[in-house]
Amino acid sequence: MKKEVIELLINEAVKARSMAYAPYSNYLVGAALVVPSGNVFTGCNVENASYGLTNCAERTAVFKAVSEGQRHIDAIAIVGGPLDGSDADYPYPCGACRQVLSEFLPESGDIDVIVAKNTEDYMTLKLSELLPHSFNL
Ligand code: THU
Repeated sequence: MKKEVIELLINEAVKARSMAYAPYSNYLVGAALVVPSGNVFTGCNVENASYGLTNCAERTAVFKAVSEGQRHIDAIAIVGGPLDGSDADYPYPCGACRQVLSEFLPESGDIDVIVAKNTEDYMTLKLSELLPHSFNL
């Protein structure tokens, strides 16, 4: 993935994070993904008083893309951390989001997953290393 695309995705994920609805955990997450046409879809986490109904930022972005007709994801950037700005690890996607991403692989067969603190501090991983042997029918 080109550096300029990575930076664009991180910037879009930061913007999406500002929409996070996370009054229970106070942990805000934003995600931005790019599809083969170059279009970008974003998402934030959306929590609920019934905690288990929470939707992660990554799945929000995936569901937005798929519901707009997209079936392949080239890359996704994720930013996340506590509301108070205190230090946090890179925002690795949870297991459920990894599995959901694995449903929409691009032609290359793998997705770049960028976990970012900002545009200068990020890691680019492959979905295949985050989720080897994903479930498939
Ligand atoms: N969260 C995400 O949005 N993405 C992940 O991959 C892991 C966790 C959200 C869910 C919840 O709103 C908050 O972070 C704390 O778990």
